[in-house]
Amino acid sequence: MDGVVGVLDLTPNPFPCWEGGSEKQMERLKDKVAIVTGAAQGIGRAIAMRLASEGAKLAVADIDIDGATRTSEEIKKTGAAAIAVKLDVSRLQDAIDGADRVERELGPIDILVNNAGWDVVEPFVDSAPETWDKIIAINYRGVLNCCKAIAPRMQSRKRGKIVSISSDAARVGSTGEAVYAGCKAAIIGFSKTLAREVARYGINVNVVCPGPTQTALLKTAMAGREGVLEAMAKSIKNGDPLPAVQLRDGPKQTRQDPSPRAPNRDDGPAR
Ligand SMILES: NC(=O)c1ccc[n+]([C@@H]2O[C@H](COP(=O)([O-])OP(=O)(O)OC[C@H]3O[C@@H](n4cnc5c(N)ncnc54)[C@H](O)[C@@H]3O)[C@@H](O)[C@H]2O)c1
Repeated sequence: MDGVVGVLDLTPNPFPCWEGGSEKQMERLKDKVAIVTGAAQGIGRAIAMRLASEGAKLAVADIDIDGATRTSEEIKKTGAAAIAVKLDVSRLQDAIDGADRVERELGPIDILVNNAGWDVVEPFVDSAPETWDKIIAINYRGVLNCCKAIAPRMQSRKRGKIVSISSDAARVGSTGEAVYAGCKAAIIGFSKTLAREVARYGINVNVVCPGPTQTALLKTAMAGREGVLEAMAKSIKNGDPLPAVQLRDGPKQTRQDPSPRAPNRDDGPAR
């Protein structure tokens, strides 16, 4: 997959187009405490780095403590505060213990990003119920657990932001990812409802649905189907997936660019 043109590349600098942000922008989240799950690598790592670059204090939460430590060390090198927190989002007690530790060491949590995710790509008819259980436990139950652990704290302080990472798969489906897509769609319904329940406490709940993004998860899912990945990359490059994103080896695209062709969902998983 390395060398593919067009898939959003998160390494080494996830957001080259945001380099040199204004001082005001860098202060936007000054001293806010953010916890990002699944931030050892990939999209979660990029989110954590971005929040830190805007002044937030970061809790890098992941089941992979070595990866989480690497991300937090990287953040600390920029001068921002960060801690690595080992937690398995599929376990409510881990989420509660993790939130306790973050509040003890960094302060009250202002921002929760539910990013941790996991999948096995295979036709639904071939999949085993044990696999469904794990996909549901991490991708859906993980969001419930972290919201259950953290939303009451935000509620008592009458402020907070919750952002959950769903997927394009939730909106348009994705071949080989039926259970994952179902979980990602569930996140949308859950978040719309939670948003209604906690709005009166000044808490915002939002969902982001990324398209294919070059991470370990996508690499694993597409193993042996690099041709498909290349086709997806080309279609993304020809389309307009994100505002002002620097595509590797490609031109910087902006919202003003024409969108001749959206990625074809049947080309492969939406992730
Ligand atoms: N990569 C894509 O193309 C894509 C597209 C749409 C949505 N997403 C979503 O974005 C999120 C991040 O995906 P990514 O591509 O960066 O994946 P990734 O595999 O690179 O990173 C996922 C992270 O989650 C962690 N994790 C897995 N299970 C966990 C658990 N039980 N508890 C805590 N942490 C756990 C992993 O250790 C890893 O650090 C996921 O929710 C994924 O579904 C990814």
